[in-house]
Amino acid sequence: MIGPDDIQSLFGPLLDQISDDTLREKVVGTWVEACRIGGWQSVDELMDMPFTLLTDCHGISFVEHTTAVTAGALALASVQVEYYRQLPYTIDSDWLVAGGLLHDVGKLMEIEPDGEGGYVKSYAGRCARHPISGAILAAQLDLPQEVVNIIACHAKEGVGRPQRIETVFVHQADFATFNPLVMLKKGDLIGEE
Ligand SMILES: [Fe+2]
Repeated sequence: MIGPDDIQSLFGPLLDQISDDTLREKVVGTWVEACRIGGWQSVDELMDMPFTLLTDCHGISFVEHTTAVTAGALALASVQVEYYRQLPYTIDSDWLVAGGLLHDVGKLMEIEPDGEGGYVKSYAGRCARHPISGAILAAQLDLPQEVVNIIACHAKEGVGRPQRIETVFVHQADFATFNPLVMLKKGDLIGEE
């Protein structure tokens, strides 16, 4: 069974950037609970899990994607803080990191092994896509509503909906790590045909 130490081993450097101890513990707890619900048993299983079923991941795992999106969202925030003389909104880096680490946590309930080395969408995933299931779980585990917004609205579910600035950064970092793979598959990534 996957426990808090396992999640710490996967995301330690990013978790350490959350200054609020309670929030950090809740992020870890949400991952542990999602792994339990989804039936994921070990870190090795998590390391092999693809981050999407919508296109070819080219070996990029769910853990790698979660790390890249969180670090990317932090970078999007930090360049604005560094280069804009005045920032017209307040960025909460604790919520940003927590939301980055949890934005796809619902995929632990949406994706399951097919028993033949591949992965399929689960029945739960057909009933509620990962932004919905992840947001429900985070709300049940008492994550701040702002973090729930990041999870609920980071993908198409958030289009046209009110969003935190941290949600915008997580969404853009997510799209930048997902869409090139879709373009690659379509032959639309110039130089990679
Ligand atoms: Fe994602």
